[in-house]
Amino acid sequence: MTNKLPCLTYQGSKRTIARSIVDKMHSMFPEKKVFVDLFGGGGAITSAALEYKQDTLFECFKFDKVIYNEINKLVYTLYSAFIRGEIDPADVNMYVTRKMFYEIKEDESYNTLEKAIILFVWSFCGNMNVYIRNDSCETDEYLREIEYRIETHRSSLIKKHTIDTYKLDTFNKDYRCIPIPNNAIVYCDIPYSGTSDYGDVGDSKKITRFSHNSDKDSQICINISEQLDCKVGCRDKHAFTNCEHKGRHYDKVFVFDYDKFYEWALGQDCPVFVSEYNMPDKFECVGEWQRATFGNGTISAENAPIEKLYWNGKGLGVVERVGS
Ligand SMILES: C[S@@+](CC[C@H](N)C(=O)[O-])C[C@H]1O[C@@H](n2cnc3c(N)ncnc32)[C@H](O)[C@@H]1O
Repeated sequence: MTNKLPCLTYQGSKRTIARSIVDKMHSMFPEKKVFVDLFGGGGAITSAALEYKQDTLFECFKFDKVIYNEINKLVYTLYSAFIRGEIDPADVNMYVTRKMFYEIKEDESYNTLEKAIILFVWSFCGNMNVYIRNDSCETDEYLREIEYRIETHRSSLIKKHTIDTYKLDTFNKDYRCIPIPNNAIVYCDIPYSGTSDYGDVGDSKKITRFSHNSDKDSQICINISEQLDCKVGCRDKHAFTNCEHKGRHYDKVFVFDYDKFYEWALGQDCPVFVSEYNMPDKFECVGEWQRATFGNGTISAENAPIEKLYWNGKGLGVVERVGS
């Protein structure tokens, strides 16, 4: 059995397929020594790249450098501290009520790492956004389940791991602001279009305030060019609030400009790989995986959608492409 990958159990995590994804990219570009994870999230892919090694007849391949980037400051801070083994076990033990959770979440002056730990441990599926416990359900079985989840989150944060981080660089920026080294493979695990996802991204945090209700789908990420049926909501730079979208209510709808992203990816000279369910024709599908579980583990293997890995077609010489 292979070791569990050290990463955060983040919504949309690639932890179950991360090693296969990194292996696929390396097999296509075995000479590339730098690995760039531009939408790093809980760090599954970064961790897989950090520990990656491939024995050949003459050498043992490892990446010289791994770059992790994530725009969400809390997620960025938590993963960076976690992977460097800098989380103090004393910081994960605080008891947090629903009221405290939302107060801390809104408190701009709260220490970022402590805030990230609290929001991660006490949120539903580690989404750092919605409080883990539904107070209207008080059965013993439910409370035991919640306690188990809290303990799992806590112990995952302080678990000792052996990943060496001397070759890791971390950034907390928009993906377009990261300088890409010459000999790099770039991986992009972009927010999936039309799926529930993520905490506050960038500026949207300052503009939107919304009520939390775990009975509703509170967040969704949509394509900026998708038609939004926005009945009561208003729009800002990154998000819509209080929307009806395809007949369902959402407290907050994030926007991600997929067209701009495609343009950016196709404009790079280096190989850029993207995890998505579907991509425009200019990208080539080079791998497919079926994930057994998602976030809260409610989707069974047979219902899980096929995840695909797409490539921007760059990074190979003309001769190599013709022969491939
Ligand atoms: C699908 S998740 C990544 C999951 C990650 N691969 C894992 O296994 O945990 C996508 C991430 O992209 C981040 N993100 C969204 N927009 C971004 C941007 N413009 N630049 C960088 N990161 C962004 C989100 O905050 C989110 O954490």
